[in-house]
Amino acid sequence: MATLLITGAAGRIGAALRPRLLAAGHSLVLFDERTPDDPVSGGERLVVGSVHDPGALDAALIGVDTVVHLAGIPTEATWDELVAANLTGTKNVLERAATAGVLRVVQASSIHAVGRVPEPLEQPGTVPGDRLPRPDTYYGVTKAGMELLGSMFADRFGMSVVSARIGAFGEQPSSARALLMWSSPDDLVRLVLATVELREPGHHVVWALSRNTGSPADLTAGERIGFEPRDDASEVLDTDARAALPAEDLRYLGGDMADVPLGRRTS
Ligand SMILES: NC(=O)c1ccc[n+]([C@@H]2O[C@H](COP(=O)([O-])OP(=O)(O)OC[C@H]3O[C@@H](n4cnc5c(N)ncnc54)[C@H](O)[C@@H]3O)[C@@H](O)[C@H]2O)c1
Repeated sequence: MATLLITGAAGRIGAALRPRLLAAGHSLVLFDERTPDDPVSGGERLVVGSVHDPGALDAALIGVDTVVHLAGIPTEATWDELVAANLTGTKNVLERAATAGVLRVVQASSIHAVGRVPEPLEQPGTVPGDRLPRPDTYYGVTKAGMELLGSMFADRFGMSVVSARIGAFGEQPSSARALLMWSSPDDLVRLVLATVELREPGHHVVWALSRNTGSPADLTAGERIGFEPRDDASEVLDTDARAALPAEDLRYLGGDMADVPLGRRTS
């Protein structure tokens, strides 16, 4: 049994991971600047604080084996907001984890770190999880930057850092696009559990996607660290939905984010 610190635990992904990680027998420290909607249960400890507060991070890291770093802004926003939340925030989390001797971290990168890669829909399984960044937005740039921070902290402190390029997260694939890029909660848990088992130092950039039939994603980088996704959006969502994809959604991996105005909140 491990003790995992989840930053951004009050968010959508954090809320979905919590019951699943508890059911897998792990203890959790929940860290967020707001209180989670779901009550804190046995096996969980809550620390309300910001990733910009080193003291709060230090308190949260006590007794922790692995960090699941989700805190941040999950969409396009102003440059200054994104740099503060996603880059400086990640630097702070990695810095405090290294100082506390917590050497395993899985951090939420995004498909938008490679969102401007033209989508090779006719050749499924061809875009490696660790493909060179080609971001589509300021958001994507900060996610690519997170990955560089992960690389540097792994090299300098002997940490095992997994940068997880999450796609369209949801309990169910809710759009035609998710047919290709769904990240199911159960598969994200499988990636977290693979990270808990890592013993060798290193940085790994991987797709945090389900095994979606027809997806352009090549999942082998994740398989090298023991991540074996099992869900498939096509078993849940009508495959005819793919025909409903707007043409502009097919041009780039990032879908319609590839063309949103830079620096403006998208939601
Ligand atoms: N949801 C998706 O489909 C998706 C896809 C790719 C990547 N991601 C990434 O996964 C992570 C989680 O996404 P989500 O959908 O759960 O987002 P969310 O907005 O629902 O949750 C983010 C949480 O981070 C917290 N947070 C923000 N700034 C903080 C700070 N300074 N200190 C402490 N907590 C802070 C927020 O309060 C919030 O609860 C994000 O980093 C996002 O970029 C999400």
